Amino acid sequence: MGIVETGRVTAQRRVGPQMWQMRLALPRIAAAIRPGQFIHLRRDGAHEPLLRRPFSPSRVDAATGTVELIYRVVGRGTAAMTQWADGTAVDVLGALGTTFTLGGRLLMVGGGVGIAPLMYAAQECAPETVTALIGGRNRDEVFWAELFPPTVTDIRIATDDGSIGHHGYVPELVPALLESGAYTRVLTCGPAVMMRAVAAMAEAAGVPCEVSLERRMGCGTGGCLACVCDRRAGGHAKVCLDGPVFDSREVRL
Ligand SMILES: Cc1cc2nc3c(=O)[nH]c(=O)nc-3n(C[C@H](O)[C@H](O)[C@H](O)COP(=O)(O)OP(=O)(O)OC[C@H]3O[C@@H](n4cnc5c(N)ncnc54)[C@H](O)[C@@H]3O)c2cc1C
Ligand code: FES
Repeated sequence: MGIVETGRVTAQRRVGPQMWQMRLALPRIAAAIRPGQFIHLRRDGAHEPLLRRPFSPSRVDAATGTVELIYRVVGRGTAAMTQWADGTAVDVLGALGTTFTLGGRLLMVGGGVGIAPLMYAAQECAPETVTALIGGRNRDEVFWAELFPPTVTDIRIATDDGSIGHHGYVPELVPALLESGAYTRVLTCGPAVMMRAVAAMAEAAGVPCEVSLERRMGCGTGGCLACVCDRRAGGHAKVCLDGPVFDSREVRL
């Protein structure tokens, strides 16, 4: 069920269009969380919005008790977060959900804020075992390469307008890499259309693929059914409890 911890904002800055990076002092959760898992966050004592919001950390430092998020402003909860000054008390539930499988040679494919949990996964891997593919609409959206753990050097970029890197969608970079036979697993997080394409390519190549799903969440702990997704075999899964990380063959994207 996770830990409930009261923490504090220690730093916050704008990193891109509508994109913010926030550091939180959460020593107990920092010691417990693993890549792919998420925290459920709200301002301590806040009534508006009342419900916590889910975020997958982009970096965790257990030694200093720091959890870092990168978030996009999409509505009232994330807009309010941009106003949280250093020292703001936060009420956090974590670490929640399932983890990415690390080890072997990993191909990470991220789009938009879906790149954040892949950064944390990369942080926990030997750098030479990771190839990261990141996609965005244009040059302004791929500031992510600079935020990646500096040890990861094999980062390839695709932009819709060709202003930097490959001109096209990020899944277009996947087939040639999978054909090399070098990768033991694909990890992907981002827009559903991107993950659907990446998962189909990995499945066709016989390479296991893990997808991280986003859903609106209420409780974050399996009680409210706000977050269900469809299983390929029929029936439903709770993204907060059975996910957010699933084997791609398990769920409909
Ligand atoms: C496991 C998990 C990890 C996440 N990690 C990150 C992260 O690292 N960085 C980040 O920026 N965001 C992340 N999100 C998404 C983030 O939780 C939502 O953007 C946030 O809750 C929106 O809150 P809000 O009050 O600003 O928006 P609201 O006012 O609640 O909603 C604004 C709009 O966004 C839509 N929306 C809200 N939440 C979601 C959602 N979860 N999925 C799809 N649409 C949604 C609403 O339907 C509405 O159209 C994650 C979500 C999940 C489930
Ligand atoms: S968010 Fe309540 S069951 Fe998943």
